[in-house]
Amino acid sequence: MAIDRVFVEDVGKFDGQVITLKGWLYNKRSSGKIWFLLLRDGTGVIQGVVSGNDVSPEVFDLYERLTQESSIIITGQVHGDKRAPGGYELWVKDVRIIQTADDFPITPKEHGTAFLMERRHLWIRSRRQNAILKIRHEIIKAIRDYFDSKKFTLVDAPIFTPAACEGTTTLFETDYFGEKAYLTQSGQLYMEAAAMAFGKVYCFGPTFRAEKSKTRRHLTEFWMVEPEVAYADLNDIMGLAEELIEFIVTRVLENRLELLKILERDLSKLETIKRPFPRIHYDEAAAILKGADTEFVYGSDFGGADETLISNNFDRPVMVYQYPADVKAFYMKNNPDDPSKALCVDVLAPEGYGEIIGGGQREDDLDTLKAKIQKQNLPEEAFDWYLDLRKYGSVPHGGFGLGIERTVGWICGLEHVRETIPFPRLMHRIYP
Ligand code: 4AD
Ligand code: MG
Repeated sequence: MAIDRVFVEDVGKFDGQVITLKGWLYNKRSSGKIWFLLLRDGTGVIQGVVSGNDVSPEVFDLYERLTQESSIIITGQVHGDKRAPGGYELWVKDVRIIQTADDFPITPKEHGTAFLMERRHLWIRSRRQNAILKIRHEIIKAIRDYFDSKKFTLVDAPIFTPAACEGTTTLFETDYFGEKAYLTQSGQLYMEAAAMAFGKVYCFGPTFRAEKSKTRRHLTEFWMVEPEVAYADLNDIMGLAEELIEFIVTRVLENRLELLKILERDLSKLETIKRPFPRIHYDEAAAILKGADTEFVYGSDFGGADETLISNNFDRPVMVYQYPADVKAFYMKNNPDDPSKALCVDVLAPEGYGEIIGGGQREDDLDTLKAKIQKQNLPEEAFDWYLDLRKYGSVPHGGFGLGIERTVGWICGLEHVRETIPFPRLMHRIYP
């Protein structure tokens, strides 16, 4: 009797035994008296060896009918073989076709990105996309484990919101029973309320920005983890950010090395990600850009290319703090010793991956906050509840948002964030 049902990632536990695997045909090749199939089942890919001596003539003749992505169930004996990828192959005794797939569009040859994006629902079956999305899972798991182990409370933020958090230019507006509502850009304001209730909290969920920029770093729907801590200042927040990032990278290297190898990731670039990370003032970052080929002017925010120029000076993420308050969001606290600067931090990933974290210390004084809301022409009524937090037990506090897709893109070493999320939403893409 065959052992039913085994997953490819577990075959090593069954060396010498007869097992049943259920999956799809990844590829095949024949050399006359013997033919080979590659079965994938989502946990891995294994080679099956089909010999005329071991199977019935009907099974042997299935070769012609076996098309790429046909669903198949195979039974065979596990055989350790150092040359086989994964270290094992299956000496096949039986093959059953569950459904024959005709003309699967994504063949082993190279395809253009537009072609693949249009078929994302099928593309995610490929070995490379599979590896990326599994690393994404590992990163999310690491983040949750990190905050849970530090006794942060998970508090979910709403998706429909009455007001902007990150500027009014990237809001997605919806009709909410005759009133205007917006898809959330960030759960931060709600986390500030939650931090005053629970001390230290985080939310993890989808966020939305009507980004009209077509860059390799922007999605219109992306996932963000946002911790918020009561009685914390900018330094505490930078400490939390670097510890989290180190934790994530270490975890992926520990648990997902094989997947990083499939992606041909330069592991040496990840092995250096150890605290402490460099911390530089906005002025120092601006000085790096002096004389470089950029349109950057002092006082403005850094563009993507500027971030690359800055981060190229470091072999680990660099924390740039205290940007000019005028280019940052209304909720940021100004530096009391230099009010033109905000007590904020952006963490720029190495190798040109740009900003993966934005955050800092929040304005905790009621009147100053009111004045900032007015100055940015934001509708005060929508922020009444938020201002309450400064009336009832206001304390210094802060937090940050880490973008999941940019983090996945960096750790996997990808060209574009579109491959870091199962079904990317971009300015010109909402299908499939
Ligand atoms: O810097 P951002 O806009 O900060 C906030 O939203 C704060 N309210 C977070 C907080 O303090 N709780 O966004 C945070 C991160 C960025 O560093 C980036 O990693 C990611 O979110 N991000 C995007 N990722 C993909 N596509 C986009 N369009 C993104 N916009 C921001
Ligand atoms: Mg930012």
